[in-house]
Amino acid sequence: MKPIYLDHASTTKLNEEVLKEMMPYLRDQFENPSSLYEAAINNKKAINQSRKKVSEIINAKPSEVYFTSGGSEANNWALKGVAFSYTEKKEIITTPIEHHSISHTVTFLESIGYTIHYLNVDEEGFIDLNHLEQLINKDTLLVSVIMANNEIGTIQDIKSVHSICKIHDVLLHVDAVQAICHIPVDVQGLGVDLLSFSAHKFYGPKGIGCLYVKDGIEIENLIHGGKQEQGIRSGTENVAGIVGMAKAMEIKIHNMTEESERQIKMASYLYNRLRNSIEQVKLNGPKIGSKRRLPGNINLSFKDVDASIMCFILNKKGIYISTGSACNSGAIEPSHVLKAINVPDDFIEGSIRISLGEATTKREIDVFCDEVIELIENDLV
Ligand SMILES: Cc1ncc(COP(=O)(O)O)c(C=O)c1O
Repeated sequence: MKPIYLDHASTTKLNEEVLKEMMPYLRDQFENPSSLYEAAINNKKAINQSRKKVSEIINAKPSEVYFTSGGSEANNWALKGVAFSYTEKKEIITTPIEHHSISHTVTFLESIGYTIHYLNVDEEGFIDLNHLEQLINKDTLLVSVIMANNEIGTIQDIKSVHSICKIHDVLLHVDAVQAICHIPVDVQGLGVDLLSFSAHKFYGPKGIGCLYVKDGIEIENLIHGGKQEQGIRSGTENVAGIVGMAKAMEIKIHNMTEESERQIKMASYLYNRLRNSIEQVKLNGPKIGSKRRLPGNINLSFKDVDASIMCFILNKKGIYISTGSACNSGAIEPSHVLKAINVPDDFIEGSIRISLGEATTKREIDVFCDEVIELIENDLV
């Protein structure tokens, strides 16, 4: 049986049309875009056309779009690049529910003298804007907030975060890796200064991402070398990746609204099926169907269940999901996100994340629900 893949927040399958668009650059059109002969210049043109497409989709200028190796690099660059450019300010405000590419980066910055403040979040993962108003001050260098949470799907009110940053003249970075192409993202409408995203979350290739940097903002180079990406991010461009990313965005934006509605219906169906059969199940994050939750995200905790055993058994049956735990130096640690939203101790280890995708069918959801109900009813996890 074909595996049932319910882990799209982790990564997605490359779209066939995207692969087709990339193929020439993986084979025959291999020349270095920085070289001066015609074939190379054509590759440079392909990069610039892709940059234009990407910029139009997020409502930016092409000169504000910098290609990176993915979301982690974009996040690292945003934070360290700004810190190394505006050295007079030493405080950063972020949230306790960031992806590790932000949380570990701020820990690094703390180790070299920065003060990091974490915003309070409520039980659904929404940040406390009053707390932001209290924390922000003349020494604040940057506010960095995850737009849509990768574990619990919470979508933050970025416009309101921006309004506060604007009053205090503080830069705003947004990790939009889970948001782009799943919910509308307009950099000017949101008012952000820097914004990160990554192609493999929307059926594009892995190893390619982007950092939007608003014109006028200085950002120190982290990868020194040649003059690529306007001289601030060196390295021979991943032409196939860049072309693939732009194509994937173009396709995904086209059917985003329709697909979101379909996924919301399937997410409610899945949740209701489990809720009707299992007494002790708790939904983490905002209500399913809420405009402030990622459409395909369902994060559940089962009381007194070991989610790692559940995942292991489901994996044997060809069903792929994520747990709410991470393996850190051999020990299973409950996720920092679930801890931050105060998931009770007797639920936290029984937490799973299901993330739906374009190919997910109702039949797959039924198979998944049947298996989970059986495991719990028979006390097998
Ligand atoms: C919210 C968020 N930020 C950043 C990343 C890192 O992106 P990449 O895998 O492209 O490095 C991820 C990946 O899971 C993510 O979910």
